[in-house]
Amino acid sequence: MQQPPGPRGLQVFAALDDWRKNGLVALERLAQQYGDIPCVRFPGHRLYMLNHPDYIRRVLIENRDNYLRSEGGRRDRRLFGDSMQVRNGEEARRLRRIIGPIFQHSLMKRDFCNVVVDLTRSMVDRWTTFPSAALMDELMQGALKASVQIHFGTRPGAETNELAMLFREADEFRSQGAFPDWIPTAVNRKYRHAVDRLNREVFARITERRALGTIGSDLLSVFVSQPDSGLTDVEIRDSLVSTTVAAADGIGIALNQTIRQIASTPRVNDALHDEAAKVLEGRPVRYDDLASLPYSEKVVKEALRLVPPSGAMVRLAAGEDEIAGWRIRPGSRLLISSWVMHRDARWFDEPYSFKPERWTEEFECSLPACAYLPFGRGPRTCLGATMATLILRLMLVTIAQSHRPRATEPNQPVNIRPFSRNDDYLPVVLEAR
Ligand code: HEM
Repeated sequence: MQQPPGPRGLQVFAALDDWRKNGLVALERLAQQYGDIPCVRFPGHRLYMLNHPDYIRRVLIENRDNYLRSEGGRRDRRLFGDSMQVRNGEEARRLRRIIGPIFQHSLMKRDFCNVVVDLTRSMVDRWTTFPSAALMDELMQGALKASVQIHFGTRPGAETNELAMLFREADEFRSQGAFPDWIPTAVNRKYRHAVDRLNREVFARITERRALGTIGSDLLSVFVSQPDSGLTDVEIRDSLVSTTVAAADGIGIALNQTIRQIASTPRVNDALHDEAAKVLEGRPVRYDDLASLPYSEKVVKEALRLVPPSGAMVRLAAGEDEIAGWRIRPGSRLLISSWVMHRDARWFDEPYSFKPERWTEEFECSLPACAYLPFGRGPRTCLGATMATLILRLMLVTIAQSHRPRATEPNQPVNIRPFSRNDDYLPVVLEAR
């Protein structure tokens, strides 16, 4: 046999149809059927799905220079530009060398923690019992506003809302288009205009911040305060726009999913609330409290395991390699799914249960390096992982202090389907305590 097992002939169409209808769940089926390295053959290339930590380590760490990120389609590039996320090789390394310390700097200042808590408190203060119909959107909006404030240092209220609206519009039109970007359909024209408006605003803010010379704690300030970085305004724009959206999406999805899991697991709900009540006695949470709130960290780790917001990554093999004894030809695609890895009973006991208490130090030490990868792994791992985890904990604790999530469809299994923005609602109400 010249290639690992996988669907053949008509089975390939059935697998594609399953993927189209069920997304990440179809990948779980592929892994169950064909094992640790299923191969799907397409005209012109092969796709290998890697379902073992050792194989994933080969691609993301050991032989990483051989495996390229996708450069993204024209449609995405209109909004995200040539950000680090879509670059490879020396260019990606250069940007990461410059931008990595900028994120570190902002983490050290930690001012973003207060921004997040104040914003979440102003959100929960408006809620009495929050109905399920609008909850998903409310949480996505909250994450977007937090991301905009952290990136651009906008004032809470109108200034943040207006910039957040520009981001939202551009991103929505990006995901709506059924035709290529260059065809002047109504949606494509609106997309172009939305990106133009956003660009005008972002470039104006970069110029203004340079002129003012004042250094705030937002990421834009940190970017422009590094005159020796060699970054052009366009590179700063691409970086700010792409991470504003990445952060808003990742955090928004994770927040929705975590609240959904908590709502269905009353004992976790109570433990999270009790920890916050005991440590904070009703006052707002601050960065320094987090060390005394270890349960909130376990809850976030477990939610990112069971329902990772970014459920799969793809790499392109530049040259030949060998994985698990199989020859990987140049041009092959490699699919790595955190969704599938995190549901593998070899690494996670009772993988479909939401069990924050599994995250003991001992358990973490025993996990193979690439079995848990909500933020990827290796030198291209998410630059915002620490920030995202902190923000999620602060938002969850703040919500848990005043509201109790309750599942409105308690008999529905919650762990079987990945998040979809097309879901019209989250089957949860938040009840005021
Ligand atoms: C829960 C929230 C988030 C999740 C689940 C998430 C997940 C990911 C994943 C899976 C990758 C790709 C890793 C790879 O391809 O190897 C990534 C890359 C990246 N993420 Fe995040 N992310 C989140 C939040 C954030 C935040 C808050 C920021 C910044 C403010 C951020 C900035 C980035 C950047 C810059 C990269 C590209 C790194 C590189 O290309 O070297 N992310 N993220």
